[in-house]
Amino acid sequence: MKKIISIANQKGGVGKTTTTVNLCTALAATRKKTLLIDFDPQGNSSTSLGFDSRKRYPSIYELLTEQLPLKTICRQTLIPNLSIVTASEDLAGFEVEFSQDENRVSVLKRCLKDLDFDYIIIDCPPALGLLTLNALVASHSVIIPLQCEYFALEGLSQLLQTVKRVKKNYHPALTVQGIVLTMFDGRNALNKAVVRDVRETMRSMVYQTVIPRNVKLSEAPSHGKPALIYDMRSVGAQAYIRLAAEIIRQERKNNDKQS
Ligand SMILES: Nc1ncnc2c1ncn2[C@@H]1O[C@H](COP(=O)(O)OP(=O)(O)OP(=O)(O)O)[C@@H](O)[C@H]1O
Ligand SMILES: [Mg+2]
Repeated sequence: MKKIISIANQKGGVGKTTTTVNLCTALAATRKKTLLIDFDPQGNSSTSLGFDSRKRYPSIYELLTEQLPLKTICRQTLIPNLSIVTASEDLAGFEVEFSQDENRVSVLKRCLKDLDFDYIIIDCPPALGLLTLNALVASHSVIIPLQCEYFALEGLSQLLQTVKRVKKNYHPALTVQGIVLTMFDGRNALNKAVVRDVRETMRSMVYQTVIPRNVKLSEAPSHGKPALIYDMRSVGAQAYIRLAAEIIRQERKNNDKQS
């Protein structure tokens, strides 16, 4: 099984990177051979796993521009079964450099052929530009982190429109794998109302697991570690373990249906 999943939302700061890093770690901990692709010029996933995002070594940009193959760029993290392709600022040039290329939406897809991973998870930047488009075209599915705040649903409809457009124009098999609610604070009435609203509107698309607002999740990146390593018993880390279990169950169900 090889499953490529984009973690996407054009809204900034909703928990894409936190979800990518901790979900990848939880999947790797269950012995799934996992590759994290940092696809954001901010390089936050790279720093969160202890890789300096300043240009010290080849990164995703050299892969996209065909200067180096994936096996040269792919780095083993400190977590067994988890590799990473890092990103740095030069990735921001991709959109301009490839804007006239006739295959510009499938550059990443071409780079991900014939890989031996159970899961490839792509951390997208906060925009619906050419980078996110490339990530969606390269993926089987997309997981959308939604912050439990007032404007969450507005941003969601725009993203779902984009997914529809990608399906229609480039990739009919692309699916929305699920929506994960993030940064939930049980003491905040608005947060609770948003969870209720999103569940009512999106129904079974929303994962049961809700990621709580938890200081360990925000502290961990400054130590260059996933929260699952920084403090495995924290409520944040435990929530991501539950999310990974939910996703693995979902995969099994889907595979059973297909066979
Ligand atoms: N559940 C949480 N509890 C507390 N802090 C969180 C949680 N999830 C994310 N954060 C913090 O919120 C900030 C934004 O999170 P994150 O970087 O994961 O979002 P993002 O969607 O990747 O942002 P960007 O759009 O800039 O890429 C970070 O400082 C992160 O540590
Ligand atoms: Mg991010």
